[in-house]
Amino acid sequence: MPLMPLLRRLPAAALQLRFLQLPQAAPAVAASARHQRKSLSTSATTGPSAQPTSPAGLQATVDVDSRVLTLHGAAADDQAGVATLNFPLAWLRDNCRCSLCHNSNSDSRQLLMNDFDPTAALTEATVEAGQLQLLWADGHRGCYPLDWLRARHFTEDGQVPPDLRLSKSIPRLWRDWPFRPDFLDGQAVMSDDAALLELLQRLELDGLVLLDNFGTDEDSLSRLCHRVAYPRRTHYGVIFRVESKPGPSNLAYTTGRLGFHTDLPYFEHQPDIQLLHCIRQTRTVPGGENTAARPPPEQFHLLATALTNFRDRNSDDLDKFHLLQRHPVLELGRGGQVRRIHLSNQQRDSVLRLPLGRVQAYYEALKEFNDLLYDPGHSLQLRLKDGQLAVFENGRVLHSRTAYQGERLFMGAYLSWDETLSRRRVLQGL
Ligand code: OGA
Ligand code: ZN
Ligand code: ZN
Repeated sequence: MPLMPLLRRLPAAALQLRFLQLPQAAPAVAASARHQRKSLSTSATTGPSAQPTSPAGLQATVDVDSRVLTLHGAAADDQAGVATLNFPLAWLRDNCRCSLCHNSNSDSRQLLMNDFDPTAALTEATVEAGQLQLLWADGHRGCYPLDWLRARHFTEDGQVPPDLRLSKSIPRLWRDWPFRPDFLDGQAVMSDDAALLELLQRLELDGLVLLDNFGTDEDSLSRLCHRVAYPRRTHYGVIFRVESKPGPSNLAYTTGRLGFHTDLPYFEHQPDIQLLHCIRQTRTVPGGENTAARPPPEQFHLLATALTNFRDRNSDDLDKFHLLQRHPVLELGRGGQVRRIHLSNQQRDSVLRLPLGRVQAYYEALKEFNDLLYDPGHSLQLRLKDGQLAVFENGRVLHSRTAYQGERLFMGAYLSWDETLSRRRVLQGL
């Protein structure tokens, strides 16, 4: 079963939080009336006359006009170059950590938006015993651990950079063609959390992981899926049997050749991750060809903008189904990079809603794109043996199959990135 990598590097899954830019806080001026002057001094401010109630050098000042509270001298040791930590008052009120506003068991905001006043005025700010304590004008008191604040301070450009380990890793290209991933040990993955973590990390980076020594038990795939998260149920079932069947509801259930495709492009959210477990295969299954080349820009533009209809209308022993969705073959991310590929010649609908004058160019682009996938210079050909398993990113690694004869049974399943990333973070203790 040949597999191929994404044509271009995927965008970083960086979390960009956007905030209104706040004016720079004005220098602290001692003043008690909140509506009066530029700045509201706090009891922790070491102004000329104020007695600090905080560790030496630690001060909090508030700029009333820009509505920003600034902590001076509170940066952590590893926050080199950070002189002050700024926090918008609206954000502080929104993120009050008191037990009324925040439920610590569920780590959720309990404060309703109905009860939130984004213009709430602050009366007093104190820094004491590792906490910022605030008294709001309506009498509400809140406290915030300094460590918690340090990880959330604001800069002119936004909030502190996210911990990159939390995001999906930026995929690494399969540079060393032909890409030959090592096989991970299937038994270890099932019993050892470190091995499972390695599988998940490699999947993020490479988009493809191979396991051997996974056994030929038909139920093993379900166990692996549940070890990661939850297999995604579709109209083909939870764990589906890929084998030649009479009256096949899907071309995969024949012995025929399958061109490069992604699975289930007729969903709004096609499956993120696919698993194929070889239970038995008595004949060689030669691979297809792959490429890391990218289509010429014009065709690229066409495939990224023209919407292709994908459809799956049939019935099998599970049910009748009629799935229908429109996608560009190349779905672009916010940065303009290919984020996901939607491609399945067998499920591409005969309904083609394109202006008459674009149809010819569309077909030529599709054809050229397809042919690039088969460029032999960048192929990964492999024939899974009994007890081996491939896990791959469906929207990034296209897969195909040559025709076969003889007995062959694969078990298939899908996982979602959200839940898979959740497992990876948990395994890392993040
Ligand atoms: C599939 C599929 C490939 C194979 O089930 O989605 O593409 O090798 N199968 O049978
Ligand atoms: Zn509160
Ligand atoms: Zn498939």
